[in-house]
Amino acid sequence: MLKRPRRNRKSAAIRDLVQENVVTINDFIFPLFLLEGKNKRVEVASMPGIYRLTLDLMLKEIEECLKLGIKAFDVFPVVDDKHKDKEATQSINENFFYLTALREIKAQFPEAIIMTDVAMDPYSSDGHDGLVDEDGNILNDETLEILGAMAVSQAETGIDIIGPSDMMDGRVEYIRDALDDNGFENVSIMSYTAKYASAFYGPFRDALDSAPKSGDKKTYQMNPANQREAIIEADLDEEEGADFLMIKPALAYLDVIKMLKDHSDLPIAAYNVSGEYAMLKAAGLKGWLDYEKAMQETLLSIKRAGADIILTYHAKEFALLHS
Ligand code: PBG
Repeated sequence: MLKRPRRNRKSAAIRDLVQENVVTINDFIFPLFLLEGKNKRVEVASMPGIYRLTLDLMLKEIEECLKLGIKAFDVFPVVDDKHKDKEATQSINENFFYLTALREIKAQFPEAIIMTDVAMDPYSSDGHDGLVDEDGNILNDETLEILGAMAVSQAETGIDIIGPSDMMDGRVEYIRDALDDNGFENVSIMSYTAKYASAFYGPFRDALDSAPKSGDKKTYQMNPANQREAIIEADLDEEEGADFLMIKPALAYLDVIKMLKDHSDLPIAAYNVSGEYAMLKAAGLKGWLDYEKAMQETLLSIKRAGADIILTYHAKEFALLHS
């Protein structure tokens, strides 16, 4: 036999030498759920190990994570129903707990990268990412004005990256212009470029209590059956000024990650979403899988598919294992 591929697997040292991909803590953005108030820590029932935290406890969590080497965080607000309305008004109230918390987080940890989410759903009484008319249609261009204002309000707190997760057409350019017009040309945009209408967001909507009150998100989020359509979205986001392209979810869409990596020169991010975390956690807790190994293999698969950046709820556990 001239060729024996097993020679390159004969020892741990050789395997390390020929290893093609590696996941590092530098790749991670850790999503966090912010609660209003003080000294509250509420586990997300469908995401064991993931907690909704008030600002005081979140500051401690960020400090711990920074010590472990996690440098980037995506902060989502858990908004009480009493603050929700059709126009997502609280999203631009500078005294609202989310915006005041972001200011405090950046003041305490200027070295951390803080990312925020731009979409109406956490603040919307309709539970949709865009404005809903009487007939239940999601209005695109009217929503852009709200998203632009939301992005500027978030930028004013000093955050680093805006993440438009709404999938309205033209929003990257609209937000880029709004940021630039207000002096925030250094705030980056990580666009949710190929965001699919996925069942894997269920636990996230539990965490935020943000599920749509009627209908679904299929008129704006992409059809899971489509791959090439992601190129249309990627080209638009690139032309409109996105700094990063994101694919979401990650695991059921590894082909899309690979395709956009080959297609674009921008950094590629993948969102390893709530339902993907929940599946592994549940199987691990039942003793059906070795959670730690399955988690690391999962993250590696996302990296191997081409992601430069991974948004993942596993970030802290991974960091603890490697510290
Ligand atoms: C809101 C938003 C969602 C997620 C991130 N931003 C949910 C949705 O679109 O319904 C999902 C994240 C996850 O499942 O971990 N637009």
